Amino acid sequence: MKVNINGESKAILAVWFEENQVKLIDQRKIPETIEIYSAKNSDDIYYAIKNMVVRGAPAIGVTAAYGLAMASKNMEDMEKAVKTISSSRPTAYDLFKAIDFMKANNFSESAARRYALEITERSRKIGEYGNTLIQANDHILTHCNAGALAVVDWGTALAPMRIAHDSGKKIFVYVDETRPRLQGAKLTAWELQQEGIDYSIIADNAAGYFMKNGDINLAIVGADRIAANGDFANKIGTYEKAVLAKVNNIPFYVAAPGSTFDFSLKTGEGIPIEERDENEVLMVNNSRLGPAEGHAKNPAFDVTPHEYVTAFITEYGIFRPEELRKLHSLIHED
Ligand code: MRU
Repeated sequence: MKVNINGESKAILAVWFEENQVKLIDQRKIPETIEIYSAKNSDDIYYAIKNMVVRGAPAIGVTAAYGLAMASKNMEDMEKAVKTISSSRPTAYDLFKAIDFMKANNFSESAARRYALEITERSRKIGEYGNTLIQANDHILTHCNAGALAVVDWGTALAPMRIAHDSGKKIFVYVDETRPRLQGAKLTAWELQQEGIDYSIIADNAAGYFMKNGDINLAIVGADRIAANGDFANKIGTYEKAVLAKVNNIPFYVAAPGSTFDFSLKTGEGIPIEERDENEVLMVNNSRLGPAEGHAKNPAFDVTPHEYVTAFITEYGIFRPEELRKLHSLIHED
């Protein structure tokens, strides 16, 4: 991704491996500053994923892959390292896909590098397929951050927008702020700004207003885990946006690589939903919302039933929910 550092445009990745350390753009600090977090062992990887130094399904997978390669080089107890990293966050399937991939490849550094390169290339392909769905002057809604920061580069939901913009189509993006962690307002808006794509941040509860007014004609979001029937988990608030899109006849696309599809689950019912600390909801910039003795509930994801999905944009092409069996075979053959 392009990043403006002191007036100079530089290319940077969200995650990389250098001198036996896993380097991460600290996503808790964006957009205020670009700081690099260096993970030196599997406990640091656990900390980084759990506390969202790195977040977004594919980026979590890549971090785990590099983390296991690093742990193996450090001669850590690999059973313990796998257990620690697996317990960091439950919902994104990429984490478990990456761990299985590394187990099957003896935790080698070259395998982790291949995993990271492949996911980056897959995201670019998602961008190319997704670009075919975007027309000049489209007004596109997105939720959370499914951009370069959430992968290594390109992104999933944002990749089609980036390619559409680079190919000269003028587009406008409605960015849901995405309470409570504000991945939309902080991360997606920052990425669009770096790329020179026009956008406005909207309050989470404003999407219906803009849809009903005819201001939004397309929605593209990412996913954390997709079941065999097309039900999918994504950032909390995605479900209501999908329902609103259907009511307003707006196509609703989910962009995700093969590594996010969990074909072992028939429906979305079995997707584990992470419940995060109530303080993410209760505290804003160190001040407390509501009464001192008040409590909050904080599910990090919701599951959208497949009937609200127009199609999935993947590196293998674009598939309607009823066509996912075909995608399953393609992933299997790969
Ligand atoms: O809690 P987060 O920020 O990790 O949630 C991220 C999302 O919900 C993204 O939309 C999803 O991981 C897709 S990222 C390409």
